[in-house]
Amino acid sequence: MFAAELSSSLNCCATPERAVPNVACFSGRTSPHTPHTCIFSRASRSHKYCSRRIQKIQARAVAAEAPAVPKPGTLPPRVVNVSLGDRSYPIYIGEALLNNSEIIAQHVRGSQILVVTNETIAPLYLDSFVKGLQSQGAFHIETVILPDGEEHKSLQVLQQVWDKALESRLDRKATFVALGGGVVGDMTGFAAAAYQRGAFFIQVPTTVMAMVDSSVGGKTGVNHPLGKNMIGAFYQPQCVLADMETLKSLPDRELASGISEIVKYGLIYDPELFQWLEDNVDKLLARDSKAMMHAIDRSCAIKAGIVALDEREGGVRATLNLGHTFGHAIEAAQGYGVWLHGEAVAAGMVMAADMSFRLGWIEPEICKRTVDLLKRAKQPVTPPKGMTTEQFKTFMSVDKKVQDGKLRLVLLKGPLGSSVVTGNFDSKILDDTIAAFVAHEDLLVEGR
Ligand SMILES: NC(=O)c1ccc[n+]([C@@H]2O[C@H](COP(=O)([O-])OP(=O)(O)OC[C@H]3O[C@@H](n4cnc5c(N)ncnc54)[C@H](O)[C@@H]3O)[C@@H](O)[C@H]2O)c1
Ligand SMILES: [Zn+2]
Repeated sequence: MFAAELSSSLNCCATPERAVPNVACFSGRTSPHTPHTCIFSRASRSHKYCSRRIQKIQARAVAAEAPAVPKPGTLPPRVVNVSLGDRSYPIYIGEALLNNSEIIAQHVRGSQILVVTNETIAPLYLDSFVKGLQSQGAFHIETVILPDGEEHKSLQVLQQVWDKALESRLDRKATFVALGGGVVGDMTGFAAAAYQRGAFFIQVPTTVMAMVDSSVGGKTGVNHPLGKNMIGAFYQPQCVLADMETLKSLPDRELASGISEIVKYGLIYDPELFQWLEDNVDKLLARDSKAMMHAIDRSCAIKAGIVALDEREGGVRATLNLGHTFGHAIEAAQGYGVWLHGEAVAAGMVMAADMSFRLGWIEPEICKRTVDLLKRAKQPVTPPKGMTTEQFKTFMSVDKKVQDGKLRLVLLKGPLGSSVVTGNFDSKILDDTIAAFVAHEDLLVEGR
């Protein structure tokens, strides 16, 4: 919708290669008259309209109502709003929010609730979460506990959610609550989207990955043996409740893998966030609440702004997939669950940065800083040993960014914080990049 509005009012958005606004647009720190890169043409010019509109969306994104009074000794909660007209919703970020059932209760539409979680999270949080909801009134609450793991993110396992909902005679006013990481969130959202053509849905993310990325924006779905997240729907939740206290039980490796997606926001939009990460990544790994709050808040605000512009990924939203086409190939080739999603994306982002450098689109410094930061975040910066060129090509060819048989990639172009989604590149450079990383030869990225 925004794309159409823009192109009719600005006459500058016709190029097929869609660039993204530089950080000035999303940081909201520049004046509306500051020249910036147009979302659609990359021409640097002063687009008052574009700039003002993005600033408006950004302002709405951070100015939603505050939740109930915080528990003493906890950080004041923050709320980021995802502005999607009558489907807008708040993201609550804070400590000790999970048992603050009032927040959830105010977003439940009917009286029936189905809490979906997995066998790891259930013993930690399910009982107290359900008790809290019960204290809020006459809800009929059912639960379903799925097996844990990316390898279970399948239609077969999802069937258990629908089985439980039908056995419990839940109607379409029921609210499905996803209590867990990205896997539970993606599956529950899709289950809700398809249940009687659309039940309500709430996200309660419990991993960094889910808090900064997967719970926001309404992408839901499951994997297919031939490709990751290939079966799914866009379906927005009623609200997102991110309680950072749940991160205390998150294993170190899971916590670190979520940082990859925060690095992604820095690379594609926000050089200040990238630099902040360079200064604070150790605090995130040490689970410092204040640092974690900042990283989640900023990531959600960036994602909310992008989703508000392009909910169904017709343009700018695709940049959120930086590193994902390479990363999905790694995940699929290894077998789902062997490498964590964030780990595969980390190696994928390094490949995308390296390819961008080979194309002459970015300075080598950006590759070096990316590798250094991801290494400090304890993420892999090369694909797994033994992965072949054929595997990359096979799995990349079923990626959702293939359009009319042509592979489109998210690549970096220009200063830090600028990216493009394009199929317009020399395919030999892609081959060279894959060949270099598969051979684990003296990589350009390592040498800088
Ligand atoms: N929908 C989107 O826009 C989007 C965006 C990014 C990622 N994703 C998807 O998200 C998934 C990855 O999400 P993830 O990294 O959260 O993985 P995950 O859901 O598998 O969770 C990681 C592990 O941590 C456990 N866990 C979760 N919360 C915990 C807690 N608080 N304490 C202890 N253990 C806990 C889980 O049981 C699991 O074993 C992938 O399937 C990816 O495709 C979706
Ligand atoms: Zn991702």
